Amino acid sequence: MPTTFDVLVIGAGPGGQIAATRAAQLGFNTACVDDWEGPDGGPAPGGTCTNIGCIPAKALLQSSEYVELVEKHVAEHGLNVQGLTMDVAKMHARKDNVVKRNGSGILYLFRKNKITFVHGHATFVKATSEGYELAISGKTTDTLVAKHVIVASGSDARPLPQVPFDEDKILSNDGGLKLDSPPKRLGIIGAGVVGLELGSVWRRLGSEVTILEALPTFLSAVDEDVAKEAKKAFERQGLKIELGVRIASVDKTDPGVAISYTDAKGGDQKLECDKLIVAIGRVPHTTGLGAEAVGLKLDARGSIEVDGDCRTNLPGVWAIGDVVRGPMLAHKAEEEGSAVAERIAGHLPEVNFNTVPWVIYTSPEIAWVGQTSQELRAEGREFKIGTFPFLANGRARAIGNTTGLVKVVADAKTDQLLGVHILGLSAGELIGEAVAAMEFGAASEDIAMITHAHPTLSEALKEASLAANGRALNF
Ligand code: FAD
Ligand code: NAI
Repeated sequence: MPTTFDVLVIGAGPGGQIAATRAAQLGFNTACVDDWEGPDGGPAPGGTCTNIGCIPAKALLQSSEYVELVEKHVAEHGLNVQGLTMDVAKMHARKDNVVKRNGSGILYLFRKNKITFVHGHATFVKATSEGYELAISGKTTDTLVAKHVIVASGSDARPLPQVPFDEDKILSNDGGLKLDSPPKRLGIIGAGVVGLELGSVWRRLGSEVTILEALPTFLSAVDEDVAKEAKKAFERQGLKIELGVRIASVDKTDPGVAISYTDAKGGDQKLECDKLIVAIGRVPHTTGLGAEAVGLKLDARGSIEVDGDCRTNLPGVWAIGDVVRGPMLAHKAEEEGSAVAERIAGHLPEVNFNTVPWVIYTSPEIAWVGQTSQELRAEGREFKIGTFPFLANGRARAIGNTTGLVKVVADAKTDQLLGVHILGLSAGELIGEAVAAMEFGAASEDIAMITHAHPTLSEALKEASLAANGRALNF
């Protein structure tokens, strides 16, 4: 007799982990199956986020940020550091340890919540009178049956057509986080989130980094004023960013990789580099899921088709996170995971996609929530803006990092807060206040009237909100 569960979650990334935890908290007999293998061949829960995404990227961003601080910024504080040496192997060891601790933490939480964790690959076999039968393959094989299945199988890096990743010269985010030394010349295709974060890491550690981007606009999803300032800041730091390029060919050469492309003016160009990171987006992962065996419907992009509540076309089968529509973000996956578990329990939770924040962990950081000026203009909505530069913020001056600004966008008539866009130190932390304000339907004046501690970076959000109401006090 196969083992039967109320809820079986496929994938232990951020989406699957939280879905399983919430389901168990709600009293369901829950299993979570994940096939990720750690360096020792054992289970490594946490998915892309923990193993080759958010967590290792942030660990290396932090290490490389310290290098840059010591090399370029501590002298103005009266610190003269001589003979700085860099141990990239130690940085990787620290990063790997952070990853390992995250994974162990997830296994601990599974035990604590009495979730059955299965290390293996899950494949739909058939629908049965009790729900769905799944075959588990890997080091052990098994058959499991569950009344409800939550698919949280994630995504994979998208390769360029005809240019597969070899993780030696042509790297995905995985190889891009494992380089054992900074390549002298690093090429990156795609000036998106991965390109900018990994480009920043390796530039800080000494690589000459050139990023080739297809679109004519830099960070087109980011508010135009923030994107413009961010590009200037990154170029000042030494990142070379070429927009409007068309890649013609990518060839491995003896020392590295040669990329032929046309530039924005249509001129033929060539970039020679030692390593190339291809960061042109991600594709949903449904390999070996057995979707066809049970008739689980995918859309034209290969995502599992779901409604606004993450219901698939099959009764009792749900899908969340990167494998479905919407932003590919860990916190979006988590919110969907929790909401689905609650829907299975008969609750009526809501995930508000309008208030999902984005953070790009460059230096300065870029963070935003809600709509951009360009989106609102395209909609024909009347809006007002208030901006405040960190140059005029006392805390930023005391820290010695005044790059960037806060921009508040509000409805012209009602003053409802429509978006907040931040470029600057700790933007990813500062955006939390804006998310909460938008969730509570705040007007920009509400933020302007809240007492903010002095001196803090958060005062820049208050000042931008004051500016949106024509009454800036400190600028
Ligand atoms: P995943 O994390 O991809 O997890 C899916 C899991 O399911 C994997 O372990 C996979 O092996 C397993 N699996 C798949 N199919 C099966 C099967 N059939 N049987 C068993 N197991 C299966 N997002 C942020 O919000 N903040 C960040 O800072 C951030 N940084 C990132 C940095 C990089 C370099 C990258 C690549 C991504 C980053 N992301 C970030 C995106 C984030 O990693 C994803 O949005 C998130 O991991 C999606 O979670 P998920 O649970 O949907 O899927
Ligand atoms: P992305 O979608 O952020 O950026 C890809 C970029 O590549 C785009 O600017 C696109 O125009 C460009 N591009 C596409 N095809 C191209 C081509 N042929 N030639 C040149 N440029 C091309 O995707 P990215 O950076 O790969 O990241 C994937 C996803 O992972 C992100 O969208 C995000 O959801 C998630 N992520 C989130 C992070 C965060 O929250 N801080 C960090 C890293 C990744």
